Amino acid sequence: MSDEFSHWDHIYKNANLEKVSWHQQHSTISFNWIVESTKKQDAIVDIGSGVSILADNLLAAGFTDISLLELSTQALNTLKTRLKKSTDKLSFYNENILDFESNTTFKLWHDRAVFHFLTNPKDQQTYLQKLNQYLEKDGLFLLATFSPEGPTQCSELDIVQYDVKKITQLLGDRFNLLKTQSEAHPHPNGSVQHFNYFLFKKK
Ligand SMILES: C[S@@+](CC[C@H](N)C(=O)[O-])C[C@H]1O[C@@H](n2cnc3c(N)ncnc32)[C@H](O)[C@@H]1O
Repeated sequence: MSDEFSHWDHIYKNANLEKVSWHQQHSTISFNWIVESTKKQDAIVDIGSGVSILADNLLAAGFTDISLLELSTQALNTLKTRLKKSTDKLSFYNENILDFESNTTFKLWHDRAVFHFLTNPKDQQTYLQKLNQYLEKDGLFLLATFSPEGPTQCSELDIVQYDVKKITQLLGDRFNLLKTQSEAHPHPNGSVQHFNYFLFKKK
């Protein structure tokens, strides 16, 4: 069992999940961008879904092909129970994205507050190789990370902050940036956390 798995599984077993810093009552920017840029039957994957409300929001809007990939077994089981009426529209992957292997490809790859935990360039490149392999040509990469105005840690782990320049340099010429937006995410403790959202199209 990896330290990383234990860290996250412990949180999902013990924390009040409506009080964790990344909690959202609605997926706002992610949801709006997905609705604007995809069709309801497109294959969408949420990397490091946690117990995010995104899948609930997409199901309610009529999306029919949603994959949820998550390291923590506890988090994924919580989602499976919560979404049990919609299992025909859902696929679950209990694994580390860095080890992901599948025959499936996706039209849209969503990542909110997961990629930014990869502080090691080798892990970042492995993630980007998976993204490139499993995202369809002309597919969309919707990424949300802490911005340079945001925290340097999330869940007591170091993260990498991204702005447009840094993320476009890292992605290289395989992706075109379609749009970006900043968000002051309200932390349940009353403070704010500054995020940047990026929408890229694969060439
Ligand atoms: C800060 S939470 C964000 C959860 C969710 N994306 C949201 O916006 O509510 C980070 C999530 O990523 C998961 N995670 C971290 N590293 C991962 C990895 N290498 N592969 C898959 N999931 C990972 C954690 O278990 C946790 O659920």
